[in-house]
This record gives sequence, C-alpha cells and structure tokens, in this order.
Amino acid sequence: MDSVAAIILAAGKGTRMKSKLVKVMHTLAGAPLIQYPVTAAREADASRIVAVVGHQAEAVRTFFNDSADVACALQEEQNGTGHAVACAAPLLRDFRGRVLILCGDVPLIRAVTLRELLKEHSRQGATVTVLTACVDNPHGYGRIVKDAAGKVVAIVEEKDADPDQRAIREINSGIYCVEGPFLFDAVSRLGSDNAQGEYYLTDIVRTAAGRGLVCASHPAGDPVEVMGINDRVQLAEAEAVLRMRINQAHMRGGVTIRDPKAAYIDNGVVIGRDTVVHPNVHITGRTEIGRECVIEPSAVIRGCRIGDRVTVKAGSVLEDSVVHDDASIGPMAHLRPGTVLMEEVKVGNFVETKKTVMGKGAKASHLTYLGDAEVGRDVNIGCGTITCNYDGVNKHRTVIEDNVFIGSDVQLVAPVTVGRNALVAAGTTVTKDVPPDSLAISRTEQVNKEGWVTKKRATGRGKKTKE
Ligand code: UD1
Ligand code: CA
Repeated sequence: MDSVAAIILAAGKGTRMKSKLVKVMHTLAGAPLIQYPVTAAREADASRIVAVVGHQAEAVRTFFNDSADVACALQEEQNGTGHAVACAAPLLRDFRGRVLILCGDVPLIRAVTLRELLKEHSRQGATVTVLTACVDNPHGYGRIVKDAAGKVVAIVEEKDADPDQRAIREINSGIYCVEGPFLFDAVSRLGSDNAQGEYYLTDIVRTAAGRGLVCASHPAGDPVEVMGINDRVQLAEAEAVLRMRINQAHMRGGVTIRDPKAAYIDNGVVIGRDTVVHPNVHITGRTEIGRECVIEPSAVIRGCRIGDRVTVKAGSVLEDSVVHDDASIGPMAHLRPGTVLMEEVKVGNFVETKKTVMGKGAKASHLTYLGDAEVGRDVNIGCGTITCNYDGVNKHRTVIEDNVFIGSDVQLVAPVTVGRNALVAAGTTVTKDVPPDSLAISRTEQVNKEGWVTKKRATGRGKKTKE
C-alpha cells in the first residue's frame, strides 16, 4: 500500500468565535480543536502531517513542537483553501502517495471514517475522493454535483451555485483523499474567478474530471463527524458529542458513570475497572485513576495519578498530585500541586496540602493546612493544625517523623522537625525542633476565677446592651 500523508487546513482566524484566540486553539474536552484531526490522521496511518497555519501561527507551531510527525506550513494571507494546500506543497514535494486533507475546525472526524475513505478511494481507482454528508439543511456548504453514472463532476460553493445546485443536499465535508502528485500539480494551476475571489481547493474536482480521472465520493456514516466549528454554540455541541464518546468508551471499559451527561472527563484520561464516577465530576489533564475508586459528586481532579480503591469525596479538588492505594480524600479537601499521599492516608474535610508527602496511614482529618511538609507513617494530625511555612519572604519545610501525634490547634513554625513518636499537645506553637519520644507543650497556664461572671453582672458592666 502507498504511504499516506495528511494536510490539516488551519490558517483561518475564526471570526465568529469572537475571541482573541485563534479558532483551532480553542479547547474541546481539554485539547485544542486542531489536535483532533491530527490524531485521526495519525490513527489512519498518515506518517507525515502538515498543518497549514496563518493566524497566530506561532501558538499552533508551539503546540506541535514535540510532535515529530507534524510540520507547519505558513499561509500568510488566507486566499482560499486551494491556496492553503499550495502552501503545504513544498513540504511534501517528494511525496508520491495519497494525501488526506482535513480541516482544523472539524474535530469529530474519526480514524475509522478516514480509513473507509482511503479504502473507497483505492476501490474506485480514484484520483480525488470527497467525504460527503447528506444533510437536511445544506446552507453554506459546497454542493456535490454528480453525473448520471454517480461520478462527482464538480463541487459548487453556495455563493456560486444556481438554484438547481442549491437544492442538492449532499454536501462537501471539506475532507478529501487525493493522489499527491495530481494534487500539487492541480493546486498550482487554480484560478480565483469565483464569487469570493479565492483559490478554491474544490476546483481540483473539475480539473480531475476534465482530465478524465475518477472523482469519487464517500458519505460519512454519521454526519456529525463532519460538523465544522464556526462559533461557540457549535463548539458546545461538538463538546457534548465528544464527551459522550469519551464516557461511553470508559463505560465499555468497565467504569460506572452514574450520569454520563454530567461527567466531564477529558480526552486521554485513564480510569480503571469498577471505579464509580458520580455526577458533576471533572477529570482533566493527564489524569490516571486506578480500579475500584469512588469519585463522589463535584470532585475536580486535574493532572493526578490515583491508585486503586481510593475514595475522593464530594467537592474535593485535586491538582497535580499523586495518591496511592486505599487513601481517602475529602469531602471538600484541596490537594494542591506536589502532594503525595501514600497508602491508606486519610485527608478529611477542609484540609489543604501543598508540596507535601504524607506517609502510609497518616491522617489529617479536619481543618488543616500542610504546606512544604514531610509527614511520616501513621502520623495523626489534629484538627486545626497549621504549618506556618512562609515567613513573608521564603518558604520553609516542616518534617514530622513516623508515629507522631499532633494535637488540635497546633502551629508548626517552619523550618522545624518533630522527631518520631513525639506528642505535641493541643494548642502548642512549635518553634523549636521536638526530639523523638518527647512531649512538646507551649500554653499559658489556665486560671479559673470563681464567681467572676456573677460579680460582673451584678455591677451591670457585664450586661448585654441592646443596640
Ligand atoms: C469549505 C469548502 C466547502 C465545504 C466547507 C466545509 C472550499 C472552497 N469550500 O468552505 O465546499 O462545504 O469547507 O466546511 O474549499 N482555510 C485556510 N486557508 C484559507 C482558507 C481556509 O487554512 O485561505 C482553512 C480554514 O481555517 C478552515 C478550512 O480551511 O479550517 C475551511 O475553510 P472555510 O473558510 O471554513 O471554508 P468554507 O468556505 O466553509
Ligand atoms: Ca467553514
């Protein structure tokens, strides 16, 4: 089989997005629009991919910096889709195989559909094969004009079409398979004598037909795949379709999703079997979640690695953190970047951690801030404990060794170390290192003044006054 290359047209601005960001860099389920056709082309075995960029070319280029198989061609002025392909031609000069042409703003196209397009192209011995769709409202699209034998003879743009052509409901998706050498020759000869004064890629169909070459069409199985994104309404529609695809793939893989319409799971997230995802959960970035976890309502998990049998309770936010097996988080806990929770750790409500490692079995069950801290195994952190890690200029570390018991309402003024097995009494402000096996206590002694309240009231000075 000949090799396959792909050209992704993405130079347009996307005026109707009404955005300072170029259209193809708007995200869909966590990835920029342009990522989707590139991935589909790659999965359809395109070994070389050229993205034609124009508006905010640098942003797109930077995004593809790490992808060895994607090159960017600059189209400085957007003179039409044919001109865009001509801009890509120099990067594929030596290429003799078939070229898939896709649009950067048509993200729902699937690799299986591209493979079918390639197959149909070969089966028909075609020079150009157009992916088409039959739609109820063809407004705005190029129409597929065929001869009596069903061969495509032209694609006519809405603005150039006569009333008969406008009535055609088979439309051009903007996705094609074309023989490379023919394509680059044909786009170098295009004219711009049309209603928009542009170099239309679609004119290569007339060129091929005129040379007696075969132009075929292949209808997309599901027209939603060729849906283009022009504004934010369509962006939301595409996102709904994509999320459902993602969620269904997880469910088929053994994940329970209580309400698939209300689970916001990004492209590329991995979730193990028998994990249960409750409604209004957001799982984004490069997150991996193990087996048999429970992710309760309104949890937000971004860029995390989570082991097996972990419970993330309602309303918790986890960012760039690592959580090992059997840990329990929340409700309403916040793991900030650099948190590592070892096995069986419990982090309870209103606990915030940052750049903190908690050893196996350690617990911070309520109302605590642990920042820049190293917490040993089986440590118990009492309610209201705070690591005072910031002196206004620098951040300092707190080390709490294995088996330490920190009572409630303790402040640990870093840098400070609490040695193993030590006990820090409730209400203590720890400013000096605590040796292992010792008690640290710092409190003003309590004084009870008996009868004080009664006396105060009698003199009237202790009375509550009305406002
Ligand atoms: C094009 C097709 C039309 C098809 C429709 C499908 C032509 C002449 N018409 O129309 O038949 O039904 O797509 O959506 O091809 N682009 C560039 N450089 C340019 C112009 C466009 O890179 O100079 C890119 C755009 O960024 C976009 C894609 O090509 O990703 C399609 O461009 P667009 O302007 O949307 O084409 P349409 O006029 O809608
Ligand atoms: Ca368009």
